[in-house]
Amino acid sequence: MQNKDSSVQATFNSVARRYDLINRLMTLGSHQTWCREVAARATSFPGLDYLDLATGTGVIAREIRKQHPAANITGADFSESMLDLARQINGGSGIEWQFADAHELPFADESFDAVTHGYLLRNVSDLDTVLAEQFRVLKPGGMVSALESSPPAGPLAPVIRMGMRMVIPTLGQFIGKDRASYEYLVDSTLGFLTPEALRERFTRAGFEDVSVKAKYLSTNMLWSARKPS
Ligand SMILES: C[S@@+](CC[C@H](N)C(=O)[O-])C[C@H]1O[C@@H](n2cnc3c(N)ncnc32)[C@H](O)[C@@H]1O
Repeated sequence: MQNKDSSVQATFNSVARRYDLINRLMTLGSHQTWCREVAARATSFPGLDYLDLATGTGVIAREIRKQHPAANITGADFSESMLDLARQINGGSGIEWQFADAHELPFADESFDAVTHGYLLRNVSDLDTVLAEQFRVLKPGGMVSALESSPPAGPLAPVIRMGMRMVIPTLGQFIGKDRASYEYLVDSTLGFLTPEALRERFTRAGFEDVSVKAKYLSTNMLWSARKPS
């Protein structure tokens, strides 16, 4: 594991207990709705086998369970603290919670009809390897459906950037008792790829039908992409 990955892993182990609450506050309650939409895109095509990567406390995985009661669902993450919480929350019946690093997935080629993830890509040390791994474990015709943050753009960008720098670390400090971890979350969002650059990386990894839908003043994006049949 690279240094960046160990430090990201330590950050998410540290913020796990208060993560869902602060996430709800940061997104004014929209996170759950976006996760529902990520799951709905993944379950809108015929399929039985689903992987929710970077599952955290399992919000997307449980949405898939609600929408597709018969699905085989794996929720995978490299933070044991997040996985411990995911195991305790109701609504995850039959979901397999598994430790996994997104750079080296412990799954056979062509195992899943869809791979979902929320807020994974800005955190990884090697984006191309992570996309290649998702491509590898998808069945032909399978899809990726994801929620990712995006650096603010357009005329309001300076204001949004300033708001993020003020509000998010303050929530982290007072509610999560951990300002530094939330400063990392802001820095990683502001330093992440533009939607145009990320689209190019999906395409380079072999995906087609790459689409992106902006949410929340374009600071959050819903992505979908398909592995060719
Ligand atoms: C911001 S949280 C999002 C959790 C959940 N998807 C959600 O939307 O609420 C990001 C998650 O990605 C996980 N993560 C980051 N890098 C990872 C990697 N290389 N492999 C597996 N999980 C990773 C973290 O442990 C954390 O649980």
